Amino acid sequence: MDNAWQHTTVLLNEAVDALLTRTDGTYVDATFGRGGHSRLILSRLSPEGRLVAFDKDPDAIAEASRIQDARFSIRHQGFAHMDELAPRSCAGLLMDLGVSSPQIDNPSRGFSFRSDGPLDMRMDPTRGESVADWLATAEAGQIAEVIRDYGEERFAVQIAKAIVSRRQERGPVATTAELAQLVAGTVKTREPGQDPATRTFQALRIFINAELEELQQALEASLELLQPSGRLVVISFHSLEDRIVKQFIAAHSREVFDRRAPFAAPKAMKLKALDRIKPSAAEIAANPRSRSAIMRVAERTEA
Ligand SMILES: C[S@@+](CC[C@H](N)C(=O)[O-])C[C@H]1O[C@@H](n2cnc3c(N)ncnc32)[C@H](O)[C@@H]1O
Repeated sequence: MDNAWQHTTVLLNEAVDALLTRTDGTYVDATFGRGGHSRLILSRLSPEGRLVAFDKDPDAIAEASRIQDARFSIRHQGFAHMDELAPRSCAGLLMDLGVSSPQIDNPSRGFSFRSDGPLDMRMDPTRGESVADWLATAEAGQIAEVIRDYGEERFAVQIAKAIVSRRQERGPVATTAELAQLVAGTVKTREPGQDPATRTFQALRIFINAELEELQQALEASLELLQPSGRLVVISFHSLEDRIVKQFIAAHSREVFDRRAPFAAPKAMKLKALDRIKPSAAEIAANPRSRSAIMRVAERTEA
């Protein structure tokens, strides 16, 4: 029952307003999800406009197949594959990062510590290794590194040791409830309002989907893909993602001097930072999952 779970689009109008500079351009929605942003983009494009969307999730692809519009196409691929599109062909690129609500809410996808299901967490369950498969063989040191680096979890070493000793005593952790219980028994101090498993689940999800690596690759690819004046619009949901986006925009918004050739003209900047927008209090009240969102907007220069 794919349609039982809904996704409320975050910063819907703000993102599409920032993205569209012309109605006859080709746009990329790198994270189709349930198509909230895509549908609004299509409603604003002229007959000459085009929208190419990406998503890793087969359920998102199934939803996209309901859009009968010759201007629209969807690719079942990671968005790092946007480097296969024609250079300088894109008037705007939108990335609404992270997971969709249907992914979190459907226990069989294994993303949530709130309901029990197989410990999977792959955005594309047709490819790669699940979290359970990885935890069944990974060394304690690797597990600790992932939980510390991607979850900023103070008890990463203790959690990793607990996962490995449980594996040796009773077999690998197979379900989300087993992992949540094991973490709750290991994390000594709870942050107010946060489940002790939050950081560990976030870390394993980021790792198993190579989220930060693919984000970095896609940002690099966007420089080739965007036309001059084309917009880069990225919505992120945690500080690790936002830091990458912020630093990428900042690094390309500066003129770069070559220290070995101090009198040569500097390399021109490729991006101009335009905006940083957060959801309004009204949006957060209506959709609490939007509370951590930060949207950054930049414009491709002529360089
Ligand atoms: C927050 S949701 C997008 C919601 C969408 N904007 C909407 O309004 O319905 C993020 C989506 O991006 C997809 N996704 C995340 N990382 C991806 C990647 N590296 N490549 C392709 N899709 C990805 C997820 O599968 C998920 O469907």
